[in-house]
Amino acid sequence: MKRSSSLVCSLVAATIMGSCVGSAATMADDGLAIDYRQQVMKTKQAQTAAIGQILTQTVPEENIISHFEILLLATRQSKAAFAKKVLGGNSQPIIWERWDDFSARLARVEADLVVAIDTLRTQGVTNAGELAVTVTGCKDCHDIYKK
Ligand code: HEC
Repeated sequence: MKRSSSLVCSLVAATIMGSCVGSAATMADDGLAIDYRQQVMKTKQAQTAAIGQILTQTVPEENIISHFEILLLATRQSKAAFAKKVLGGNSQPIIWERWDDFSARLARVEADLVVAIDTLRTQGVTNAGELAVTVTGCKDCHDIYKK
């Protein structure tokens, strides 16, 4: 994909107020790669928090399936977000030594979320809490691959 560096710079400046020194600067690129994968993870965090809030029955439950869907999309985004080996952030370097295992975990969470969403659609949201805990795989992966 061809990218306009000035557009990228304005977007970055507008969203994170960071400095933008252009795509030739490898360190800045690496910093963005780390920031990007953390943004994807924050999306997952926000969705699991929202699902938890819905389960307390204090906020409307009609959005619950769409929170699972966003979780599914963010899980799909994670593979590309981590694909390039960029050491740093809170990622353990073994991610890229055991890439097959790391990406298989993402694929498993993705497949489980597809089934969970189908279950919620067909059977209602009564067991949403259980599904959220069993299919998201957050802790299992973090225990091994996150500092
Ligand atoms: C396949 C592995 C994997 C799965 C599954 C996974 N994570 Fe992560 N997560 C990571 C790694 C690795 C990092 C460290 C990223 C970095 O800082 O370089 C991370 C970082 C995070 C962060 C910190 C982001 C920041 O701002 O620094 C949050 C929050 C997070 N994950 C939430 C979640 C939630 C919620 C789930 C489940 C719904 C989840 N993750 C599932 C691997 C995973």
